[in-house]
Amino acid sequence: MSLDYSNSQLILDTSDHPQGSVTWRSPSNLAIIKYWGKHGRQLPRNPSISLTLDAAHTTTTLHYHRREETTTQGISLDLFFEGEPAPAFADRIKRYLESIGDIYPFLRQLHLTIHTENSFPHSSGIASSASAMSALALCLCSLERHFFDTLEEEQAFLTKASYLARLASGSAARSVFPFMSAWGRHGDIAGSSDEYGVPYASFLHPSITTMRNAILIVSSGTKSVSSTAGHALMETHLYATTRYMQAGQRMSQLLPALQHGDWDLFGQIAENEALTLHALMMASNPSYLLMKPMSLQLIDSIRKFRADTGLPVYFSLDAGPNLHVLYPESHAAEIEAFLKADCIPFCEKETWIADRAGAGPKEIFN
Ligand code: DP6
Repeated sequence: MSLDYSNSQLILDTSDHPQGSVTWRSPSNLAIIKYWGKHGRQLPRNPSISLTLDAAHTTTTLHYHRREETTTQGISLDLFFEGEPAPAFADRIKRYLESIGDIYPFLRQLHLTIHTENSFPHSSGIASSASAMSALALCLCSLERHFFDTLEEEQAFLTKASYLARLASGSAARSVFPFMSAWGRHGDIAGSSDEYGVPYASFLHPSITTMRNAILIVSSGTKSVSSTAGHALMETHLYATTRYMQAGQRMSQLLPALQHGDWDLFGQIAENEALTLHALMMASNPSYLLMKPMSLQLIDSIRKFRADTGLPVYFSLDAGPNLHVLYPESHAAEIEAFLKADCIPFCEKETWIADRAGAGPKEIFN
């Protein structure tokens, strides 16, 4: 079912709500089945599913005060990233807020000041669009609820937040749900949609909801391909059709593994997906090589440790050189001892983030 959230009724009257603020903390996520390729207004070419992280998150406060009454004016916005004005980010957010004028016409009646900060170091190489855009979308839904007494049911609130997050950045659609979330229509996930993410936590084996994710920073430099440019490469990619079919098939294989805690199958699919994403980029035109020699060395170490010990430790990658190491909490002690001895010394400035599956976003009341 397609959702239409455009609503010209969402306009503030009189001088209610002269000023106020809302704050949300929202996590980043790691896709296990990757979204790579989009069309139309931020619609995915294939279904994806991700692990909601915990330690890696963004906190966003949205302050508003009423402007002089006229709805013909554009968005009025000041944005501060980690306390400093951030003009490029502000332009992107302003364009986004203008683009959802049909959904939230009241935004033009306000002057907005956004303060946003990440829990992870600015240059850690961790993609922040999922956490930043989901935090913003959640703030917008809180404003709607506050102004109009709508979205009182949690499911309606989170579905709309996911929809709005998707319009800002596709992967952000999955960050609003705890532990794991799927985005994109797939026959094996009831209620799944290309327009918003759905929760998957209630189907997960406990060893999956308590999963650990060590993020090994190989290089903190900025990525050489933006994800928008990366998605665009898929439009003319020779392997595109096969890839989209493969993502759907892998999803069908992965879901039972998540339900039963089948780590062998989970890990095999997670690694294949990560390497497929990089293979697609290497084989695109222009071609991108986003792994570094150290990424490959660490992959080798992890696979060798796994073969030697039989322990369930696997890797994934985003569109960059850093490794996400995935393992069950029950083996955290042995696996983290290995990471500290054989992997972290080779990370950039020995930087790593001890992350895990997380309980999802949280509204913060001051
Ligand atoms: C490799 O969500 O960053 O992380 O929709 O253009 O903002 P836009 O792209 P984005 O792409 C994420 C790509 C990925 C895989 C994934 O998260 O599924």
